[in-house]
Amino acid sequence: MTTLKISDGLVKDDLLVVGLVSTNTKGGIAIESGDLALDSKSLLASLLEMGATGKADEVTKMPGGPARLMVFTGLGPKSSTYSHEVLRRAAGSASRALAGNSGATFALPTRDLAGVSAVAEGAALGAYVFNDFRGSSKDSHKSALKSATIFSKLAGKSEAKEITNRASIIAKYTHLVRDLINTPPSHLTPDSFTKKLAASFKAAGGAKAGLKITIWDEKQLKSQGFGGIIGVGQGSANPPRLLYISYTPKAKNVKRFALVGKGITFDTGGLNLKPGFGMEAMKCDMSGAAAVCAATLAIAELALPVAIDCWAPLAENMPSDTATRPSDVITIFGGKTVEVLNPDAEGRLVLADAMVKAQSGKNKLDGMIDVATLTGAQVVALGTRTGAVMTNNQSFSDSFIAIAKETGEQFWPMPLPVELRASLDSPVADIANRGDKNGGMMVAGLFLKEFVSDDLPWLHLDIAGPAFNEGKPHGYTPVGGTGVSMRSLVRLVEQA
Ligand code: BES
Ligand code: MN
Ligand code: ZN
Repeated sequence: MTTLKISDGLVKDDLLVVGLVSTNTKGGIAIESGDLALDSKSLLASLLEMGATGKADEVTKMPGGPARLMVFTGLGPKSSTYSHEVLRRAAGSASRALAGNSGATFALPTRDLAGVSAVAEGAALGAYVFNDFRGSSKDSHKSALKSATIFSKLAGKSEAKEITNRASIIAKYTHLVRDLINTPPSHLTPDSFTKKLAASFKAAGGAKAGLKITIWDEKQLKSQGFGGIIGVGQGSANPPRLLYISYTPKAKNVKRFALVGKGITFDTGGLNLKPGFGMEAMKCDMSGAAAVCAATLAIAELALPVAIDCWAPLAENMPSDTATRPSDVITIFGGKTVEVLNPDAEGRLVLADAMVKAQSGKNKLDGMIDVATLTGAQVVALGTRTGAVMTNNQSFSDSFIAIAKETGEQFWPMPLPVELRASLDSPVADIANRGDKNGGMMVAGLFLKEFVSDDLPWLHLDIAGPAFNEGKPHGYTPVGGTGVSMRSLVRLVEQA
């Protein structure tokens, strides 16, 4: 983990990251170094010579200046107020470009503690590499930037420590989500997912931090009527699990949220086998489960005064002679029956079990959020960087969208049009798991809605697009697992 500090002094011999902006359309540039107020005249000529433009995601390195190495990170067009996300991304790009180094100081145009916080977050989020599965090539791959110092005259403030502490926790758990997603399915089965989480649970303080963990194995799932998780997992030699983590804060009379995450450790499509090309990306199909579990541990480490019930239904969707057949009927926890017309629409089946279970406890819930890489249609609708939000409660959705704007995670509201519901009618069971192909993201949302009590505020986050980056790295986002939704879940709880 990258060590974070805030300082109002420069460390000699360190690397110095400053902002670079474009000032006009003719290639003009300027340096933005915030409180450092770097004298930049001599540097600008060299930067122009090198073709630096100051656009976002451009990182230019140059020896000299007041440090061993100057690192210019693009902020885009010059402005009097840079958004937190612009700062976060610029810090992240620089920190990615500095992999292999021990330390760097970030002097960016922050105006207040929130800006400093964004730079700290970006620097830590960008300092991520995943080399766990490299063998003989391990040594030729750089490790992440070891320490980041944020230059700010607010360094002496009492809040400074709080900022670095929070940013470190956010980054640590984003990295946990990314690690879990990037871990190949050969090494991440439903059972090993629960074991990895049990280890993180301990490291987060376990029972002392107010946490509790419970795991259902396949026998218990079967005898207790979790037909969705069993039905999806029964084709695999790696049996399914249900993981529950609860967090109870010290404070009394607090709000309680249920977080439910889709945990398909690999989605082959089952007997509705997916095409081979691109199937490898389906190791990301447990991103929702990873995000809700990591968010719960982060919430506990931050000791936030909100109770959390976190549920991760875990299964591997495989084709075999024991796999669920198209037209099989399964019974979801609580008694609703589902005709499985398409075994590749498996996420909604495991989620339905967990969502009904989440609502069956004795403690009243104030809200429920499910997070899932649920549909290819989500990617078609919103692309690879924006997640979808569906809901039965407009104001809950509005507040989440506002929070996501703040955390820099891109989410957009989508409707749940009632007329699409009829396409899920089954001739034999209560509901079918596949409906109209058009609007498939919303059809999936409508399926889940059937398992949510009307008076419980509920959000469904479909992160099929943004959970896994198959393109180039950008800002603080690496290739592979991104960790999306974790930060917004934590922020939602912070503001509850
Ligand atoms: N895990 C997939 C959805 C997915 C697609 C996630 C692309 C990430 C990237 C999901 O289980 C799935 O296969 N959904 C089907 C549903 C359909 C059969 C109704 C889909 O979207 O094709
Ligand atoms: Mn599927
Ligand atoms: Zn899936």
